[in-house]
Amino acid sequence: MTTADAFALGDAATDARTDTQTDARTDVRTSAQTDTALRFPAGFRWGAATAAYQIEGAASADGRGPSIWDTFSRAPGNVLNGDTGDIAADHYHRVPEDVALLKRLGVSDYRFSVAWPRIQPTGRGPALQRGLDFYRRLVDALLEAGIRPVATLYHWDLPQQLEVLGGWPRRETAERFAEYAGIVGAALGDRVHDWTTFNEPWCAAFLGYASGVHAPGRTEPVAALRAAHHLNLAHGLGTAALRAVLPHPAAVSLTLNLHAVRPLTGSAADLDAARRIDAVGNRIFLDPVFHGRLPEDLVRDTAGLTDWSFVRDGDLAAAAAPVDWLGINYYSPTLVAAAPAAEPGPSPRSPGVAEPSPWVGAQPYVRLLPAPGPRTAMDWPVDAGGLYELLTRLRDELPGVPLLITENGAAYADYADPEGAVHDPDRIAYLHGHLAAVHAAMADGADVRGYFVWSLMDNFEWAHGYSKRFGLVHVDFATQRRTVKDSGRWYAGVIARGGLPA
Ligand code: FCB
Repeated sequence: MTTADAFALGDAATDARTDTQTDARTDVRTSAQTDTALRFPAGFRWGAATAAYQIEGAASADGRGPSIWDTFSRAPGNVLNGDTGDIAADHYHRVPEDVALLKRLGVSDYRFSVAWPRIQPTGRGPALQRGLDFYRRLVDALLEAGIRPVATLYHWDLPQQLEVLGGWPRRETAERFAEYAGIVGAALGDRVHDWTTFNEPWCAAFLGYASGVHAPGRTEPVAALRAAHHLNLAHGLGTAALRAVLPHPAAVSLTLNLHAVRPLTGSAADLDAARRIDAVGNRIFLDPVFHGRLPEDLVRDTAGLTDWSFVRDGDLAAAAAPVDWLGINYYSPTLVAAAPAAEPGPSPRSPGVAEPSPWVGAQPYVRLLPAPGPRTAMDWPVDAGGLYELLTRLRDELPGVPLLITENGAAYADYADPEGAVHDPDRIAYLHGHLAAVHAAMADGADVRGYFVWSLMDNFEWAHGYSKRFGLVHVDFATQRRTVKDSGRWYAGVIARGGLPA
């Protein structure tokens, strides 16, 4: 894949036509291959994704309260270079320009998140009209551009005051979330059809409360398990609150970053290591939400830490409120082996001190290994096979649940050259490979309805600050100038032709 595959945005429609004509001229075999191997069905949803704290900036505009990410990023040592989301990509003040970019890309859908502290600055009480108005303006601009909004209610920016009261380990936070979900649903339900309660509750629980590399930066393994449970409960309560106010039909969903877990060998010990990671990485959410139960092996694995008595009667039934689709975020697979003995790894932040693990109940029995192969700028392996594995697993385990890839993408060290172009052939290759994997899974029966690139534009990449660029659109953070990268042009072509170039 080279940048020669990319073409000017304005030529997207022309290119799609040329593509069809080329098919007609080629022999039957090539044409059939192109049509069956690389085309996606009509109505497939092509999108791009962002999240409030990562792009909006305007951290105290219009009455917005502080979130745990404001507090965490302002404390020294938590985020690379001391970066914060105070300004980010200044999207709060650039909605028309950013919606115009989406329109140029030709996406059918845009996934964004609502910042809870813009709606309820302390996480409770009456809604701030100015906060709701911002999202109403965004949604109206999207609809005007013919783009379907997909609204996520929680992408990690808990109102700080709720953390002061105990955060996700505290049960009441789930009740507050349901109230907030009802407020936003009532305000925007007349124009937003697709809703997602949570983005990646695994990260919120285990990076936020166990390893502490994300806000609020706590390193308390039991608190992380409690957080995971209350996030499941909040998903269920929030789903009910949304359904109570949304007109029919509306779609309510959840997005999980499921781990494509691979044991290093077929040995019993490595298989057991993989089982442990699957329990605390995947089934801790899948089992409550889709089956109304806790994974028994997880309860056993964590028996030395907690008796799970924070799970009350009725909680699991509440968590199991049916969803209309499941969102999957995928970046790379997870390679695991049994740990020969308890061996906490060295800490990159404090040499000599064991880094707290997010894998509660699995450590110290498990070693996470670097998977082989090429890497992105995040040092994440490029391996589209993991996406295929996840999608076909879900086909088998959750029949009847439609799937959307709500995030997939890659960071590379992009820069604008003197001509103002951003050449990112590695990202094009990454996206091409992963879309091909989605296509293969669909051909094998996975019910995938759409695909969203992470991300529309470069943004605040959590603990990495602005050092990692995931966008289809380059952002110069000094000037806020946006430049569509080659990958953005390439993606526009994919959308226009409804499939991958051969
Ligand atoms: C996911 C997050 C998203 C972004 C990507 C790279 O875990 O949901 O906000 O940071 O990773």
